[in-house]
Amino acid sequence: MIILIIGGSASQKLAANVAKELGETLCPLETKKFPDGERYVRIKGEVEKNVTVIQSTGFPQDENLIELLFILRTLKDLGAEHIKVVVPYLGYGRQELRFKDGEAISAQLVSNLIEESGADEFISINLHEDSVRDFFNIPTANLSAMAPIAEYIADKVENPIIIAPDKGALGFAEEIAEILGCNCTYMSKVRLGPDKVETRIVDVQCDFDSEDLDKVKKDSKVNIDSVAGKEAVIIDDIIATGGTIVNAIGILKEHGAKSVDVCCVHPVLVNDAVLKIMAAGARDLSSTDTLKSDVSCISVAKLIADALR
Ligand code: R5P
Repeated sequence: MIILIIGGSASQKLAANVAKELGETLCPLETKKFPDGERYVRIKGEVEKNVTVIQSTGFPQDENLIELLFILRTLKDLGAEHIKVVVPYLGYGRQELRFKDGEAISAQLVSNLIEESGADEFISINLHEDSVRDFFNIPTANLSAMAPIAEYIADKVENPIIIAPDKGALGFAEEIAEILGCNCTYMSKVRLGPDKVETRIVDVQCDFDSEDLDKVKKDSKVNIDSVAGKEAVIIDDIIATGGTIVNAIGILKEHGAKSVDVCCVHPVLVNDAVLKIMAAGARDLSSTDTLKSDVSCISVAKLIADALR
């Protein structure tokens, strides 16, 4: 079965690498912006019955999303029968609920638009909330990038302890710690506003066996000093302003961590986030290539290719 791979302008290199992994054809696509800002899309290759479209919808979110919708609808018009849509990073994915009265449930509308434009399957990577999949009526998958991230850490750090900068990231830290056979722990974070977070050390626990994790989660005993002399690696799904990571680095340094490396799945990296993180004392900052950035050195191409096989 021939599968045509199309990479939207946000994910061209990733799409090319996925096509290479699979030995499938990469379809040429012309995209441009008209002088008034409107988007133009033209599919230049011959459309097969089975097509996979790869396009993240990060910044500029609206443009990348509309481009994806144009591609999907055009493929259907041109005879595609089954379209798998891979959105490695789903923009608007964090607004899956009406947190305050009157708010738009953006993740829901975005999901509906993707499906209605022609998607027959939807695949994403570490969705901020897995429940976003419930907005779709088509088969969906939420892949985890922790295996390629763990492989990267294993090459760089001899004896790591994996740190989740908030409780929500503990699952990622656990996944990596299990792959690497090392310890993991988490910090407690309170978000005070979109670009302000406060991180507390109250929940930091180190030096426990993975079997004890459930006990550790319930236990509030502070044991922060056990990061002293250790090579800490912070893992999060998204780094946006960098506030969460800067706080975590500060705490780890203050308590004697030998080094602090930082990894994330989606490098949203708003404004000077990279600078802030490096200035806070990170030894290394790396992410996957779900979004293009200066630090996107861990490829998810094989992860996506395996899911498409
Ligand atoms: C929040 O729940 C996420 O997992 C990240 O911790 C958050 O998006 C990071 O945001 P920022 O870099 O702005 O602190």
